[in-house]
Amino acid sequence: MTVKDAHVDVLSDAFFQARRAELAQRVKPKRFEHSLGVSEMAGRMARIYGADEGLARLAGLLHDWDKGYDDEGIRRRVAELGLAEQLASYMDMPHLLHGPTAAAALKRDFPQLPDALLRSIRLHTTGAVHMTDLDMIVYTADAIEPSRDYPGIEALRQLVGVVDLQELYLSTFQHVLENLVQRRKRIHPDTVTVWNSYVACDKKRRAQQHTKGNK
Ligand SMILES: [Fe+2]
Ligand SMILES: [Fe+2]
Repeated sequence: MTVKDAHVDVLSDAFFQARRAELAQRVKPKRFEHSLGVSEMAGRMARIYGADEGLARLAGLLHDWDKGYDDEGIRRRVAELGLAEQLASYMDMPHLLHGPTAAAALKRDFPQLPDALLRSIRLHTTGAVHMTDLDMIVYTADAIEPSRDYPGIEALRQLVGVVDLQELYLSTFQHVLENLVQRRKRIHPDTVTVWNSYVACDKKRRAQQHTKGNK
Protein backbone atom coordinates (compact mmCIF):
# COMPACT_ATOMS: atom_id res chain seq x y z
CA MET A 1 0.00 0.00 0.00
CA THR A 2 1.27 3.46 -0.83
CA VAL A 3 0.21 6.55 1.06
CA LYS A 4 0.51 9.69 -1.01
CA ASP A 5 -2.08 11.63 0.93
CA ALA A 6 -0.35 14.68 2.39
CA HIS A 7 -2.70 14.62 5.37
CA VAL A 8 -1.70 11.19 6.62
CA ASP A 9 -0.45 11.44 10.18
CA VAL A 10 2.53 9.12 10.21
CA LEU A 11 2.86 9.43 13.97
CA SER A 12 -0.72 8.33 14.60
CA ASP A 13 -1.61 5.00 16.15
CA ALA A 14 -3.59 4.12 12.99
CA PHE A 15 -0.45 4.50 10.84
CA PHE A 16 1.59 2.43 13.32
CA GLN A 17 -1.00 -0.36 13.36
CA ALA A 18 -1.33 -0.40 9.57
CA ARG A 19 2.45 -0.69 9.08
CA ARG A 20 2.60 -3.33 11.84
CA ALA A 21 0.07 -5.45 9.93
CA GLU A 22 1.97 -4.89 6.68
CA LEU A 23 5.29 -5.82 8.29
CA ALA A 24 3.81 -9.13 9.45
CA GLN A 25 3.35 -9.99 5.75
CA ARG A 26 6.82 -8.78 4.73
CA VAL A 27 9.04 -10.69 7.14
CA LYS A 28 9.16 -14.07 8.90
CA PRO A 29 7.44 -14.41 12.31
CA LYS A 30 10.74 -14.34 14.23
CA ARG A 31 11.80 -11.13 12.48
CA PHE A 32 8.37 -9.63 13.13
CA GLU A 33 8.69 -10.42 16.83
CA HIS A 34 12.19 -8.88 16.80
CA SER A 35 10.82 -5.70 15.17
CA LEU A 36 8.14 -5.37 17.86
CA GLY A 37 10.86 -5.86 20.47
CA VAL A 38 13.03 -3.14 18.90
CA SER A 39 10.02 -0.82 18.80
CA GLU A 40 9.31 -1.37 22.51
CA MET A 41 12.95 -1.06 23.52
CA ALA A 42 13.49 2.06 21.38
CA GLY A 43 10.40 3.65 22.97
CA ARG A 44 11.71 2.85 26.45
CA MET A 45 15.15 4.22 25.65
CA ALA A 46 13.61 7.39 24.18
CA ARG A 47 11.75 7.98 27.47
CA ILE A 48 14.93 7.43 29.46
CA TYR A 49 17.19 9.54 27.26
CA GLY A 50 14.75 12.33 26.44
CA ALA A 51 14.12 11.57 22.75
CA ASP A 52 10.79 11.51 20.88
CA GLU A 53 9.10 8.28 21.98
CA GLY A 54 6.62 8.01 19.10
CA LEU A 55 9.35 8.48 16.52
CA ALA A 56 11.57 5.93 18.25
CA ARG A 57 8.76 3.35 18.44
CA LEU A 58 7.93 3.77 14.76
CA ALA A 59 11.60 3.66 13.70
CA GLY A 60 12.05 0.46 15.71
CA LEU A 61 9.00 -1.11 14.08
CA LEU A 62 10.14 -0.22 10.55
CA HIS A 63 13.93 -0.67 10.80
CA ASP A 64 13.89 -4.19 9.26
CA TRP A 65 11.21 -3.34 6.68
CA ASP A 66 13.38 -4.87 3.92
CA LYS A 67 14.81 -7.81 5.86
CA GLY A 68 12.58 -10.29 4.04
CA TYR A 69 14.67 -10.20 0.84
CA ASP A 70 17.35 -12.79 0.08
CA ASP A 71 20.79 -11.66 -1.16
CA GLU A 72 19.81 -11.47 -4.81
CA GLY A 73 16.48 -9.87 -3.97
CA ILE A 74 18.05 -7.11 -1.91
CA ARG A 75 20.60 -6.39 -4.68
CA ARG A 76 17.74 -6.06 -7.16
CA ARG A 77 15.99 -3.77 -4.69
CA VAL A 78 19.12 -1.57 -4.54
CA ALA A 79 19.07 -1.24 -8.33
CA GLU A 80 15.32 -0.62 -8.47
CA LEU A 81 15.61 2.19 -5.90
CA GLY A 82 18.49 3.82 -7.81
CA LEU A 83 21.00 3.22 -4.99
CA ALA A 84 23.52 1.09 -6.90
CA GLU A 85 26.19 3.77 -7.20
CA GLN A 86 25.80 4.99 -3.62
CA LEU A 87 25.96 1.46 -2.19
CA ALA A 88 28.59 0.03 -4.57
CA SER A 89 31.05 -0.82 -1.77
CA TYR A 90 28.34 -2.72 0.14
CA MET A 91 27.13 -4.94 -2.70
CA ASP A 92 29.26 -7.91 -1.66
CA MET A 93 28.04 -7.57 1.94
CA PRO A 94 24.31 -7.83 1.18
CA HIS A 95 23.27 -8.15 4.84
CA LEU A 96 24.19 -4.46 5.22
CA LEU A 97 21.90 -3.30 2.40
CA HIS A 98 18.48 -3.63 4.03
CA GLY A 99 18.87 -0.45 6.13
CA PRO A 100 19.55 1.88 3.19
CA THR A 101 16.94 0.21 0.94
CA ALA A 102 14.27 0.32 3.66
CA ALA A 103 14.87 4.04 4.22
CA ALA A 104 14.66 4.78 0.48
CA ALA A 105 11.58 2.61 -0.09
CA LEU A 106 9.76 4.02 2.93
CA LYS A 107 10.52 7.57 1.79
CA ARG A 108 9.14 6.74 -1.64
CA ASP A 109 5.99 5.08 -0.29
CA PHE A 110 5.37 7.32 2.74
CA PRO A 111 6.95 10.69 1.95
CA GLN A 112 5.51 12.17 5.14
CA LEU A 113 7.89 10.13 7.29
CA PRO A 114 10.37 12.46 9.00
CA ASP A 115 13.95 12.48 7.70
CA ALA A 116 15.25 11.84 11.23
CA LEU A 117 13.35 8.54 11.34
CA LEU A 118 14.43 7.48 7.84
CA ARG A 119 18.03 8.32 8.70
CA SER A 120 18.00 6.11 11.80
CA ILE A 121 16.66 3.22 9.69
CA ARG A 122 19.27 3.83 6.97
CA LEU A 123 22.13 3.79 9.48
CA HIS A 124 21.07 0.86 11.66
CA THR A 125 23.16 -1.67 9.71
CA THR A 126 26.42 0.28 9.60
CA GLY A 127 26.36 3.04 12.18
CA ALA A 128 27.82 6.40 11.17
CA VAL A 129 30.39 8.91 12.34
CA HIS A 130 27.87 11.43 13.61
CA MET A 131 24.88 9.60 15.08
CA THR A 132 21.88 11.51 16.42
CA ASP A 133 20.21 10.37 19.65
CA LEU A 134 17.53 8.61 17.61
CA ASP A 135 20.18 6.88 15.46
CA MET A 136 21.93 5.59 18.57
CA ILE A 137 18.63 4.48 20.13
CA VAL A 138 17.54 2.45 17.10
CA TYR A 139 21.01 0.93 16.64
CA THR A 140 21.22 -0.10 20.30
CA ALA A 141 17.61 -1.24 20.64
CA ASP A 142 18.17 -3.48 17.59
CA ALA A 143 21.03 -5.20 19.42
CA ILE A 144 19.52 -5.60 22.89
CA GLU A 145 15.73 -6.02 22.47
CA PRO A 146 14.28 -8.87 24.59
CA SER A 147 14.21 -11.61 21.93
CA ARG A 148 17.95 -11.26 21.22
CA ASP A 149 20.11 -13.81 22.99
CA TYR A 150 23.90 -13.91 22.84
CA PRO A 151 26.72 -13.95 25.39
CA GLY A 152 27.18 -10.58 27.06
CA ILE A 153 23.75 -9.18 26.17
CA GLU A 154 22.59 -8.94 29.80
CA ALA A 155 25.57 -6.76 30.68
CA LEU A 156 24.62 -4.40 27.83
CA ARG A 157 20.96 -4.33 28.90
CA GLN A 158 22.02 -3.41 32.42
CA LEU A 159 23.67 -0.26 31.06
CA VAL A 160 20.36 1.24 29.83
CA GLY A 161 19.63 4.30 31.95
CA VAL A 162 22.84 3.80 33.94
CA VAL A 163 25.33 5.23 31.44
CA ASP A 164 24.71 8.03 28.94
CA LEU A 165 23.45 7.24 25.45
CA GLN A 166 26.79 7.66 23.70
CA GLU A 167 28.49 5.29 26.13
CA LEU A 168 25.68 2.78 25.68
CA TYR A 169 25.96 3.02 21.89
CA LEU A 170 29.75 2.68 21.96
CA SER A 171 29.57 -0.37 24.25
CA THR A 172 27.00 -1.95 21.92
CA PHE A 173 29.06 -1.15 18.83
CA GLN A 174 32.12 -2.66 20.53
CA HIS A 175 30.15 -5.82 21.25
CA VAL A 176 28.98 -6.08 17.64
CA LEU A 177 32.55 -5.67 16.35
CA GLU A 178 33.97 -8.21 18.80
CA ASN A 179 31.31 -10.64 17.68
CA LEU A 180 32.20 -10.15 14.00
CA VAL A 181 35.88 -10.81 14.74
CA GLN A 182 35.10 -13.88 16.85
CA ARG A 183 33.00 -15.36 14.07
CA ARG A 184 35.69 -14.40 11.50
CA LYS A 185 33.27 -12.23 9.57
CA ARG A 186 34.36 -9.37 7.33
CA ILE A 187 34.11 -5.81 8.58
CA HIS A 188 33.24 -3.04 6.14
CA PRO A 189 35.90 -0.26 6.06
CA ASP A 190 33.19 2.31 6.91
CA THR A 191 32.49 0.37 10.12
CA VAL A 192 36.15 0.70 11.09
CA THR A 193 35.99 4.45 10.36
CA VAL A 194 32.96 4.75 12.64
CA TRP A 195 34.73 2.82 15.40
CA ASN A 196 37.87 4.98 15.16
CA SER A 197 35.87 8.18 15.27
CA TYR A 198 33.91 7.15 18.38
CA VAL A 199 37.02 5.94 20.16
CA ALA A 200 38.67 9.33 19.55
CA CYS A 201 35.51 11.09 20.72
CA ASP A 202 35.30 8.89 23.81
CA LYS A 203 38.94 9.61 24.69
CA LYS A 204 38.24 13.34 24.46
CA ARG A 205 35.14 13.02 26.65
CA ARG A 206 37.03 11.08 29.30
CA ALA A 207 39.84 13.66 29.31
CA GLN A 208 37.26 16.43 29.77
CA GLN A 209 35.57 14.55 32.62
CA HIS A 210 38.98 14.00 34.23
CA THR A 211 39.80 17.72 33.97
CA LYS A 212 36.40 18.63 35.47
CA GLY A 213 36.96 16.12 38.28
CA ASN A 214 40.30 17.72 39.15
CA LYS A 215 38.89 21.26 39.40
FE1 LIG B 1 18.48 -4.88 10.44
FE1 LIG C 1 16.91 -5.67 13.42
